[in-house]
Formats: sequence, structure tokens, C-alpha cells
Amino acid sequence: MERSKKVEDSKTIMTEMIMPDDTNPLGNLMGGNLMRWMDVAAGICAAKHAESHVATASVDNISFHLPIPLGSVITITATVTRAFNTSLEVFCNVVTAEITGLNERRSNQAYFTFVAVDENTLAPTKVPKLNPETEDEKMLYKGAIRRRELRLLLAGRIKASEATEIKELFQP
Ligand SMILES: CC(C)(COP(=O)(O)OP(=O)(O)OC[C@H]1O[C@@H](n2cnc3c(N)ncnc32)[C@H](O)[C@@H]1OP(=O)(O)O)[C@@H](O)C(=O)NCCC(=O)NCCS
Repeated sequence: MERSKKVEDSKTIMTEMIMPDDTNPLGNLMGGNLMRWMDVAAGICAAKHAESHVATASVDNISFHLPIPLGSVITITATVTRAFNTSLEVFCNVVTAEITGLNERRSNQAYFTFVAVDENTLAPTKVPKLNPETEDEKMLYKGAIRRRELRLLLAGRIKASEATEIKELFQP
């Protein structure tokens, strides 16, 4: 029987304090530093689920809702939303707060796709299935199939005529 894992098995939480080296000339967190941390947290999560090395295949839109000032504390939570054949989708949520823990707010989110790769050949390898349990996990799991189709279309890996889940977007 095919093996499946829970979301909790690979949930990854990363906390960082924004230091002077992390900021732009306005004294706020530089976007590229945040993207790097999100990639690291999401990559650890994906590797834990896949139990193998992983490569970042794509990142969906990352929005920056608010500036994150020097001295803030960010918490990045990464969870697998769905595993496919050799790839898996990870949702990354970023919450920002003052060092005291006050003024907590959601600042960024993104979906990452990773591909599990063999350590020696670097060829894509199969990943365990995901077994969603909570209502939120089930909702993210359900939507993942549409997000996957859209990103494969944008990456030029499938044609609009091959889309099934999102075909109504392309009908006249
Ligand atoms: C990602 C990578 C391993 C895919 O290799 P590939 O030979 O194109 O593999 P395949 O065509 O067999 O596709 C493998 C899986 O990747 C998925 N995939 C490939 N490109 C993708 C993209 N742009 N977005 C989302 N998924 C993608 C495929 O859908 C497939 O998933 P599935 O097996 O679950 O159906 C390869 O393109 C690679 O090594 N890229 C560079 C990765 C890297 O260096 N990342 C760091 C960037 S700085």
C-alpha cells in the first residue's frame, strides 16, 4: 500500500529577529532576505515530508502587505498542502510581531513547489502521499490541484487546451 503522512509530520516553524544586516536603506526588512528564509523553511518542510533532498521548482506570488521594521520578530510556518508524484506543494505563512510579542499581524504568504531528487543521480523521485485531517488541511489539499495546473500552465509545461481543473478560465 502507498505510504501517506500527516501535515504535522513535517510542519516547520522558523523564527528570526530582523537585524541591521537584514534591512534596506529605509530600515525595513529587505524582501530578498525574507524570500530566502521562506525558501529555507519551506525546503526543510518539503524534505521532511519527502525524506529526501528537494529542489525548489517554483514559487507562486509573494505579496508584501506591510513593511517589517528593524527589531521585529518574524515567524514563518511551513506546511505541506499536497504531494503529487515527485513534487509537493508547501504553504508558507509569515507573521510579524514586536519583540514583546505585541502587535502580531500576518505579513506574507506564498506557495512553494519542491521536487524530491535522488542524492546521487539528481533525478526526481516519488514522494509519500499527504493525508489531510483538519478542515483547513482538506481545503488547502483540494485547492492544490488547481494551483498546480495554473503554475504548470504559466511555466509552459502544459497548454491551456490540456487544462482540466481550470479550463473554465480559458473558455470564451
Ligand atoms: C525541478 C526539476 C528537478 C524538475 O526536473 P524535470 O526533469 O523537469 O522533471 P519532470 O519534468 O520529470 O518533473 C518533475 C516534477 O516537477 C514538477 N515541475 C517541473 N517544473 C515545475 C514548475 N515550474 N512548477 C511546478 N512544478 C514543476 C512536475 O510537474 C513534476 O511533478 P510530478 O512528478 O509531481 O508530476 C529541475 O527542473 C531542476 O533541477 N530545476 C532546478 C532546481 C533548482 O536548482 N532550484 C533552486 C533554484 S535557485
